Amino acid sequence: MSSLNNVQEALLRNRHLVHGRLALVGVRDAALLNHWPAGGLAITEHFGAFERLQQVTGWVSVFGAPAKGEVPEPCNTAVVFLPKAREELTFRLKLAASLLVPGGHLLLIGEKREGIAGAVKQLKLVAPDSEKVDSARHCQVWLGKPEQHDTDFSEAAWVGWHTIEAAGVSLEVAGLPGIFSDGRLDEGTALLLASLDTVAPSGPVLDFACGAGVIGAWMQKRWGVAVDGVDVQAQAVTCAGLTYDRAKSSGNILPSDGLDAVTARYRTIITNPPFHSGVATDTSMTENFLKQAARHLNPGGELRLVANGFLPYPRLIKQYIGNCRVLVKTPRFSVYSAHRH
Ligand SMILES: C[S@@+](CC[C@H](N)C(=O)[O-])C[C@H]1O[C@@H](n2cnc3c(N)ncnc32)[C@H](O)[C@@H]1O
Repeated sequence: MSSLNNVQEALLRNRHLVHGRLALVGVRDAALLNHWPAGGLAITEHFGAFERLQQVTGWVSVFGAPAKGEVPEPCNTAVVFLPKAREELTFRLKLAASLLVPGGHLLLIGEKREGIAGAVKQLKLVAPDSEKVDSARHCQVWLGKPEQHDTDFSEAAWVGWHTIEAAGVSLEVAGLPGIFSDGRLDEGTALLLASLDTVAPSGPVLDFACGAGVIGAWMQKRWGVAVDGVDVQAQAVTCAGLTYDRAKSSGNILPSDGLDAVTARYRTIITNPPFHSGVATDTSMTENFLKQAARHLNPGGELRLVANGFLPYPRLIKQYIGNCRVLVKTPRFSVYSAHRH
C-alpha cells in the first residue's frame, strides 16, 4: 500500500519528465525523496518537514528561501508544489526558475480542488510556453521552460511592510508571500491584544505560532515585556525577526513544529493558534500544542488563546491545562484563559 498522496502519485507518474539534477520546491514529505536515490535539492517552508528531509541521504535540504551559496549547483528540473496562497506561488515559481540551468525545466503540480487550473496564469508569466502534460488523481501537471534565466533570487526583495494599530499601539509589521494575515491585523489577534491591554502579563512570555511577530512586538511596546516566539513557517520566522528588530523587541524567535524546539518554561503562553492545514480545517496542530503546553508553563502559569468560537478548544484546555474561562466573546471569536493546575 502506498502512503503517497495524490500530488506525489501524479508526480511519480510523470517522472520521465525529470532529467538531471532535481529540485523540489515546497516539498513536505521525506518519503518522496527516496524515489530519486541520486539526490537533489529539497526546499520547504515547514520546519517539521525540513527536519525530516534532512535525514534523507544524498539530498541537500533548505528551510525557506536559500541564502546565497546554500545551493551547491544549478538544477536541470525544478518541481514546484502548488501552495495555498497565490502570492506564494509566484514566489516559489521565481525561486524555482532561479535554481535552473539555462534551458532547464519547470514542473508545476497541484490538486484541482486547490486551484491548479487558476494557477496556470502565474506559471505562464514565468514560463510562457507551459503546457498541461497530465491530468490524473485529481491533479494537473504542467511543464514549461522559464523565459528568463535569472539566478539572482533574494528573499529580502519580497519583504513588504504595513502598519497596524491595536489598543492604541502602532506597529510596523513585515510580510512575505504566504504569511498569515499579510497587510492587515487579524480580527482574532486584535481581540487577543485587547484582552492583554488591561493587565501586564507575567513574564517570561511565549507566543506560540507567532506569525509575523505582531503579538510579541505589541507586548514589548505596550508593557515593555520581552516575548519569545515560535512558528513552523519559514516566512513567519523571517518576518517575526524583522518585526521584532524594527520594534526593538528583545525576545527570541525560533523555528519549531509545535513546541518541539522549545526547552524553556514560561509564566504566560499566548497564542492565536493555527486551524488550517492546506485548505482544510485541521485542529490537530493545536490539539498537540495543548497536550504539550502544560510542560512549558510554570505551575499557576497562564495560557491565553484566541480562536473561532466553533472550535472545540475549551474542553481540551480544561483537560490539559486547567479550568477554562471565556474572557471575551464576539460572534466569531472567543478569548480563553486557563491557569495550569
Ligand atoms: C492564526 S496564525 C497566527 C499568527 C500570529 N500569531 C498572529 O496572530 O498574527 C497561526 C500561525 O501558526 C503557524 N503554525 C501552523 N502550524 C504550526 C505548527 N505545527 N507549529 C508552530 N506553528 C504553526 C502558522 O505558520 C501561522 O503563522
